[in-house]
Amino acid sequence: MARLKVGVLVSGNGSNLQALIDLCATPDFPAEIALVLSNKPDVFALERAARAGIPIRVIPHQDFPDRLSFDQAMDAALRAAGVEFVCLAGFLRVLSQMFVELWHDKILNIHPSLLPNFKGLHTHAQALAAGVKVHGCTVHFVRPVLDDGPILIQAVVPVLPGDDEQTLAARVLKAEHRAYPLALRLVAEGRVKIEGTRARIDGQGPDAAAVLMNPQD
Ligand code: GRF
Repeated sequence: MARLKVGVLVSGNGSNLQALIDLCATPDFPAEIALVLSNKPDVFALERAARAGIPIRVIPHQDFPDRLSFDQAMDAALRAAGVEFVCLAGFLRVLSQMFVELWHDKILNIHPSLLPNFKGLHTHAQALAAGVKVHGCTVHFVRPVLDDGPILIQAVVPVLPGDDEQTLAARVLKAEHRAYPLALRLVAEGRVKIEGTRARIDGQGPDAAAVLMNPQD
């Protein structure tokens, strides 16, 4: 069976990339990571990819006069590697409308909040300031508007008394490592349909649940 070829875009530590690498290493998994692309050299995500034997590519954004030409270079690298689907995993660049439209319904992002709450940066500080009692992460399809697009999976964690930004971020990150693999698995199994602004998961049973909660969190 042909495996879905995935490109992962990174800029940093790559712990979500690691979760996807581990997922794709499961026997008979219907997707493989064909390329890890970073806009920054020397980030740990690249080492994780190299250790797993995954092709890597660094395209420094500063080498390009504008966002469009950088995005064109990324698009070319992804296509040259045969990539069919893109996962953003801590990729710290805003994508151009052109790139997002070229890969329409074929880009997932993970955002560290329960969207549509707390878009943008410092999501854990935003959650603490708002006094919410639950927080979490969202895996969503990417649209030209930042932190927008059909929501595929959300993972929920409690906000505990005494939490600060660091403790809350660590709890959410653990949830991210469960949410992103589930989202990619559903896509790779062909079980996701996008209907307007919503993503629908085919099938019944616990693996079709779009909300993840772990009592240990
Ligand atoms: C994660 O919190 C993710 O939600 C956000 O950037 C962070 C990346 O962490 N988009 P890592 O590089 O995957 O460890």
